[in-house]
Amino acid sequence: MRLAIQQFVPEFGAVEGNRERLAAAVEAAPEAAAIDLLVAPELAFTGYRFRDRAELERLAEPVPGPTTEALVALARRLDLHVVAGLAERDGERVYNAAALVGPAGVVGRYRKVHLFADERRLFDPGREPWPVLRVGDVPVGLMICFDWIFPEAARTLALGGAWVIALPANLVLPHCQSAVVTRAIENRVFIALSNRAGADRREGLEALRFTGQSRIVGPDGEVLVECERDEAAVRAVEIDPALAADKTLASGNDIFAERRPALYGALTRPPGNGA
Ligand code: ACM
Repeated sequence: MRLAIQQFVPEFGAVEGNRERLAAAVEAAPEAAAIDLLVAPELAFTGYRFRDRAELERLAEPVPGPTTEALVALARRLDLHVVAGLAERDGERVYNAAALVGPAGVVGRYRKVHLFADERRLFDPGREPWPVLRVGDVPVGLMICFDWIFPEAARTLALGGAWVIALPANLVLPHCQSAVVTRAIENRVFIALSNRAGADRREGLEALRFTGQSRIVGPDGEVLVECERDEAAVRAVEIDPALAADKTLASGNDIFAERRPALYGALTRPPGNGA
């Protein structure tokens, strides 16, 4: 599988223009024709710094909708699959979502469960767990940005059979880029972290600058490709996704078979002092 990340700089609110620029950048990438799965950032078409819920509602759209249709058209032109983040409107609710699309249409979707900072007053939280979808024979899991700080998200995907985790992001802090190395090692999966670059500057609101450094990490924690902090770029690498089926370390330990779930009860109880 040729796995790619796209680090992108959306212009806030210019949804149609961002759709066109994102697709044009992929098509102009030297390796475009060979990519099997491309991961683009969180909220790649709207930008991130919404003034209020009304502005978000105005920019959000259904799935399927115009943005996923444009992504399907791109997927057909290049014969690939794409994961991209977008603001999804479903009736009265608005989600920070990611869609997986291919030449045949929308394969599936995830609605962000763990909302970061101001997102909590803007978006409705997702109510369903992280999905494991298929790109050909390869099980691909979806999570979004701040989900990274909850190790349960990547763990749930890996235990659910994901070999590759697609992680669209709009990171303003610098920690996730190193944390995905650990997430990849502890689950023995590939992680494609696609962050955005640039800044959202809105009048009357504090500017947010994003930390770039998108990367693809392998099951041994090796960084296979990465982007600079501020660049817009498409980077790709050939991977053998089935390596992620083997959970055995060089020491002989099978880190999934040797889990001790009977001792992990605290994971599903509310926080407290006792075990
Ligand atoms: C984030 O979840 N966008 C930090």
